Amino acid sequence: MNNRRLILAIIISAITGAVIISCKTQFATTKDTYTATVSDARFERGKVLTYSICGGCHYDRVTNKFIGAPIHDIPGIAGKVVSANLTHSKTGVTDHYTDAEIRYLLKTGVARDGRFFNYMLRPNMADEDINAIIVYLRSNDAAVQADGTTVGVTHLTFIGKAYMNLKAKPVPYKADVKLPSDGNHVAMGYYLVDNLGCFHCHSKKLTSLNYQYPDQTKGYLAGGIKFKGENETIVKAANITPDKNTGIGDFTQEQFLRAMKEGITPEGGKLKPPMPKFKMLKNEEINDIYAYLQTVPAKVHAIK
Ligand code: HEC
Ligand code: HEC
Repeated sequence: MNNRRLILAIIISAITGAVIISCKTQFATTKDTYTATVSDARFERGKVLTYSICGGCHYDRVTNKFIGAPIHDIPGIAGKVVSANLTHSKTGVTDHYTDAEIRYLLKTGVARDGRFFNYMLRPNMADEDINAIIVYLRSNDAAVQADGTTVGVTHLTFIGKAYMNLKAKPVPYKADVKLPSDGNHVAMGYYLVDNLGCFHCHSKKLTSLNYQYPDQTKGYLAGGIKFKGENETIVKAANITPDKNTGIGDFTQEQFLRAMKEGITPEGGKLKPPMPKFKMLKNEEINDIYAYLQTVPAKVHAIK
């Protein structure tokens, strides 16, 4: 009898605890009045970055617009997560955000209403690139034209909310982040592996990413995360360290370029989603990624 009461008490306090933690956690927002500077070059760069970085989660292949999309790799017990509509629609978020608020969200993870989101946390993204993304989001490009088509809304269970709040760790705001200097190919490669989110998918766990210092992430680039692929299949992310047997140590620069742009492996196989096709990147940028990946310590980690 006493034992049952004790167990009951433990269960009740665990649930109460989770419910309390799941209450909205708010963080300080920005009072900055920054506005982005527009130019054609920034629009072009912003388009490439928005497609290559935000596209994986916010682009809808039916409407060909950034109207948002369901995120499949969230455990059902946490609820359902749908990314936001980034078009100029009333139901979109972009026009409700100031330029400073978008910049703050990318640098710290704190949204305009004080909630924390880690999905688009990019603390090392150069201010120049953030500027370019804002210019693109505010543009008249077809993919961001107002479209209120909705693909659903986020609904987290209290377990999902508790988890999000426990994980909520805004990154301290870092001002004036610069792009790596021209000609520093390895540094540019690291910058791209960080900001394009390669290390998010290719490390040990989506929940233990080190956003500030990517190369200190557990199992950095050694692969193994299981994703939900097409038709209920499981796809495991590859080991992209330079190990010859279990990584990509035997890829030539040309083979790597083909894998990145067309999704074709050296053996002629097709890379499955969610591995993106980075069609819009310049060949030089992909070569920089290749140069950087050669410098990463090789890890033996076979992915079946
Ligand atoms: C890994 C997936 C992912 C990536 C990549 C991503 N987002 Fe998001 N984004 C989301 C999700 C999911 C939400 C909605 C979260 C929610 O409402 O629960 C969201 C919400 C937003 C919001 C609205 C936040 C609010 O106040 O409700 C903005 C603005 C945004 N994203 C911008 C961007 C931009 C710009 C990029 C590219 C630099 C980007 N996102 C990349 C998943 C992603
Ligand atoms: C949204 C998750 C995701 C992102 C982001 C991502 N990848 Fe992948 N990648 C995968 C998955 C999953 C596979 C395995 C696909 C398969 O087995 O068909 C893969 C496969 C690969 C392969 C093939 C390796 C081999 O041995 O065949 C390379 C190379 C690669 N990714 C490099 C990168 C680089 C570089 C980036 C960043 C520019 C990147 N990936 C971004 C998920 C991702």
